[in-house]
Amino acid sequence: MLFDRVKPLDQILATAERKGLVRQLGWFQLMMLGIGAIIGTGIFVLTSVAAEKAGPGMMYSFIIAGAVCALTALVYAEIASMVPVSGSAYTYSYAVLGEIIAWMVGWALILEYAVAAGAVAVGWSGYANGFLTSVGWGLPAPLLTGPYDPIVQPDGTTISGSFNLIAFLISLFVTWLLVIGTSKSAKFTAVLVVVKIVALTTFVIIAMPAVNGANFVPMMPNGWGTPLSGIGVLGASASIFFAYVGFDAVSTAAEETKDPQRNVPIGLIGSLAVCTVFYLLVAYAAVGAVGAQPGGALALSKEPLAFVLRELGHGTIGNWVAAAAIIALPSVVLMMIYGQTRILFTMARDGLLPKMLANVHPRFHTPHTVTIITGAAVSLFAALFPVGALADISNSGTLFAFFIVALGVMLLRVRQPERKRAFKVPFIWVVGPLAMAGCALLFVSLGLYTIKLFLAWAVIGLIVYFAYSRQRSHLHNGTEHES
Ligand code: ALA
Repeated sequence: MLFDRVKPLDQILATAERKGLVRQLGWFQLMMLGIGAIIGTGIFVLTSVAAEKAGPGMMYSFIIAGAVCALTALVYAEIASMVPVSGSAYTYSYAVLGEIIAWMVGWALILEYAVAAGAVAVGWSGYANGFLTSVGWGLPAPLLTGPYDPIVQPDGTTISGSFNLIAFLISLFVTWLLVIGTSKSAKFTAVLVVVKIVALTTFVIIAMPAVNGANFVPMMPNGWGTPLSGIGVLGASASIFFAYVGFDAVSTAAEETKDPQRNVPIGLIGSLAVCTVFYLLVAYAAVGAVGAQPGGALALSKEPLAFVLRELGHGTIGNWVAAAAIIALPSVVLMMIYGQTRILFTMARDGLLPKMLANVHPRFHTPHTVTIITGAAVSLFAALFPVGALADISNSGTLFAFFIVALGVMLLRVRQPERKRAFKVPFIWVVGPLAMAGCALLFVSLGLYTIKLFLAWAVIGLIVYFAYSRQRSHLHNGTEHES
């Protein structure tokens, strides 16, 4: 049977017990970890992509994407409080929906994490290149962006790039850090969270008084948008969803959390709530202060938040906000590549991917093989593709995974009603279907091209599963405990 290979929840929990990670994180560290993973290229860079798609109506896009994530965070909180192990949506699906769905989720998570890492690197390069240019060390135009990402000059002419050197280099640098064993240090993450929060707060304080009602007219130049069109308010929601991704990183730290049944839900929902408040304020202030019509200056900027402040005559503060992005965004790249390697590592340990991916470096004690392969792929994505396209592709994988998690949580309520749930989603039969519907709505709003790429990726995944993974699965071969 296709769907009968389920890894029992108790077996997953027992494996986690055996691994025995030290439980040392509290709810505050989890919230810091969540905010550290969430605030990144989405708010600092994709604001311009959203303006291009929706105009001032992008404020609604922030609300819609935030609402979908809030519903998903609730269901994540329930499953993470029941199964506090790392491995995220892949592990949960293995327990509830069986191996083939777990495989597809793991396969989709490659889009979520590796492609997202590329997107954040490209977003970072916009600010880094702006800085280098301002100090007279600007790179030649062909090395500023990838071949599909034309740069609009102040005089309105466009020049095309060929290789985004800075995005390529930052991805390689982060990969190197991970190979030698740098990981998410809780203290360092907390410092960067403060840097980002201070930057966004400063932005809001300066831009808010400049809000002018005229900048909201017309509010929705591209309307709500139709499915598959990829524009309008819904199209922008599907893209800006990227800004909220990362709260699920909290669930991957569940194994290292004290009293996870209480602290994981607080970390998940709390970090998302804090970021949502900031995003709504930033979006309103940015739109109101300088306007956000498609094709306008904000929509074309590669460093939109710094751009707004410079427009308002606060060039120096604009440079400080840019500096905050330059300092803080690489840690988001690091978390994304880290998350990717751990998921691939788990899949390899389950026998679904080649064993060599689970190799651990003798000196650095890191999964270096999978890290180097992931890092090389991320560096290439970052060098060649525009941030908006990478973010959309990443979102397609994430939305699929979120959809499945919501489904899984509802199924578990039916199949294992007696299992202890420290956090229970209130009104699950409303919240769960709404989360699934929200994910589906954003998915179809992504644009036809992205959806086709996702489907092609899924087909490749199925081919790999049936040609390779299915026969080698440890669960199938009864070799689970050897891993
Ligand atoms: N939410 C993260 C970001 O915006 C992925 O960079």
